Amino acid sequence: MNLSVQIGRLTLQNPVTVASGTFGYGVEYAQLLDLNQLGAVVVKGIRLGPVRGNPTPRTVEVASGLINAIGLQGPGVDGFIQKYWPFLKTLSVPTIINIWGTTVEEYAEVARRFDALGGVGALELNVSCPNVKEGGAQFGTDVKLLRQVVAACRKATQLPLITKLSPNVTSIAPFAQAAEDAGSDALSVTNSYPAMAIDIETRRPRLANVTGGLTGPCIKPIAIKLVWEAAKAVKIPIIGMGGIQTAADAIEFIVAGASAVAVGTANFYEPQTALQVIAGLRQFMQENRIQDLQELIGSVQTGK
Ligand SMILES: Cc1cc2nc3c(=O)[nH]c(=O)nc-3n(C[C@H](O)[C@H](O)[C@H](O)COP(=O)(O)O)c2cc1C
Repeated sequence: MNLSVQIGRLTLQNPVTVASGTFGYGVEYAQLLDLNQLGAVVVKGIRLGPVRGNPTPRTVEVASGLINAIGLQGPGVDGFIQKYWPFLKTLSVPTIINIWGTTVEEYAEVARRFDALGGVGALELNVSCPNVKEGGAQFGTDVKLLRQVVAACRKATQLPLITKLSPNVTSIAPFAQAAEDAGSDALSVTNSYPAMAIDIETRRPRLANVTGGLTGPCIKPIAIKLVWEAAKAVKIPIIGMGGIQTAADAIEFIVAGASAVAVGTANFYEPQTALQVIAGLRQFMQENRIQDLQELIGSVQTGK
């Protein structure tokens, strides 16, 4: 049975990865599951320098979901290389590094630094961050800015590039196409959904940051639709994510058009989720006599 997938020139042994920001830097989960069984380890977003993140409370549970406003806390490129890379490079599965910046130049510089490091599997561009030079417009919600940031990273590195699209757009197709045209090898669909929760007793927002990003099972049907739309718009592979808890959820993303998937919020309450998804996917393929994952990808029947 063939479960392997290709992301640019990177081969994943199976299509199940973890979502950036829900799996620390891999090492935090090393005692809880065998990381080498995963398709890839995806780490929390890294920018050039260290980031303190937002004040607490920065997470709140809502019906079938989580709203977070961590504020992209992280050690920066040097801190990451010093503290986490020595462990990550010992793994037999690739590490995908999620990167971000506040200018096009910063993204490119971070990409260049990780290119020079050697041994990185791929870079995932988190474009759901504000551009300080363009009045705070998010890279991921402006086609022109998105194109610029992907093109600049493409110039800066030979590593496979995965552009992680924002769901916060009217139509995802032009963004998917812009990332593909600018040289992205794959897409991640999608990041979290802007959201807010209020404590009615105090009438205060539940997050210190007031608003945050909604994730978990409640976003799955929205994410499935976006994957389906993006898959119709491009030829490059898509990593689907949003509320995956079971193999059936992952298969739904694959049938919608995803070549791979990422388990996110579920890692917080069941760290073994990704391994359970791999086992369930194998079983589903066996039961349905599917030899190759390719047969499932985008196999949704929407015609009459
Ligand atoms: C606590 C938390 C932190 C996150 N941090 C990042 C991040 O640093 N970079 C990024 O691109 N996405 C980040 N995300 C978004 C996830 O990678 C993923 O796109 C989203 O959670 C949807 O998947 P899920 O519903 O399975 O969690 C974060 C999500 C959560 C819940």
